[in-house]
Amino acid sequence: MKSILPADRTPAAPLQADRLLQDAVVSVLRWYPAVRRMLPWRRSPSPYQIWVSEIMLQQTRIDTVIPYYTRFLKELPDVASLAAVPDDRLLKLWEGLGYYSRARNLKKAAVLLMREYGGRLPPSAEELRKLPGIGDYTAGAIASLAFGLPEPAVDGNVLRVITRLTACGDDIAEQKTKRRVSEALRGCYPEGYSAGLLTEGLMELGETVCLPNGSPRCDVCPLSALCRAHRESRELSFPVKSAKAPRRAEEKTVLLLRCGTRYAIRRRPAAGLLAGLWEFPTVDGALSADQVPALAAEYGLSVFRVTPQGSAKHIFTHVEWRMSGYLLDCGEEAPGFLWRTPEEILASFPLPTAFRSWQRLLSEEKAGNPG
Ligand code: ADE
Repeated sequence: MKSILPADRTPAAPLQADRLLQDAVVSVLRWYPAVRRMLPWRRSPSPYQIWVSEIMLQQTRIDTVIPYYTRFLKELPDVASLAAVPDDRLLKLWEGLGYYSRARNLKKAAVLLMREYGGRLPPSAEELRKLPGIGDYTAGAIASLAFGLPEPAVDGNVLRVITRLTACGDDIAEQKTKRRVSEALRGCYPEGYSAGLLTEGLMELGETVCLPNGSPRCDVCPLSALCRAHRESRELSFPVKSAKAPRRAEEKTVLLLRCGTRYAIRRRPAAGLLAGLWEFPTVDGALSADQVPALAAEYGLSVFRVTPQGSAKHIFTHVEWRMSGYLLDCGEEAPGFLWRTPEEILASFPLPTAFRSWQRLLSEEKAGNPG
């Protein structure tokens, strides 16, 4: 097992750091069964259920995931049903969860599993890593949780726990730090049921005790007697993470084109942000109320009323949309769009959250201002 202590910080010999991790593993395995939360994907799950939950839990909070997970599994209980689901239905089940490529990759992988693996997930981290949407973290999580293999699953929570435990000042934004932590952990991973317990236990520790920012709960931490950061009262100095590039801001104008009770929607391009999902027609730039009728005319629409709908912001990973919305009452339903009532849009079209806020606004306006 390699030491994860950086070369320039050696408060103890590397071997002692390895010993530290081994002691920590024992402590986590003793602590975790007593505090384990009975989350839906922890009730005798199949490999498929573990896979779906781990994909949903990427970048998404547990509370948000639970209702999506339950609904998804009710409708798509196995690899075969996932492989056969129409894309729009799949995206509808994912609507609001964000990072829609996760859903597309799930289906792609399910098709591949049906074709090449008899509809089963392979019991090997290396094979799992070959599937669309499965990287090191998810492969390790499925391998240990579903198959009892000695494979760590290192996410931001686990990086925080381990870098505090070892007072490791390496930048966790760097891939090589993740690799070193994974390798060090792999060297002391148990097999069988305990492998899954350790994976879950480390996650649980990061999610409920070794909290980020200013609030680690060292008083209830099973590792406090071992933790180097705690011993030095430097919990908040770890993990070290280099600053991300700031998010780019983009101005957008959202056109709520209405003809009678129906609104225009269209499918977004097949590549790029929110690819293939549906939208209210959205254009680049912040147009004024005076400018939007001319744009509508380009779509073949005559506008008899423009009602500004205020502004809204939506944050993606690398971009922030600053949107201005206009309700445009039109004299006809021009081609090039689908025209549907808010109820129909809600029921059948995957509309990302960025546009949902506009739809809500319209429904409210209708309720308060009939006709
Ligand atoms: N975060 C990622 N995977 C998780 C899991 N299986 N349980 C709780 N939190 C998680």
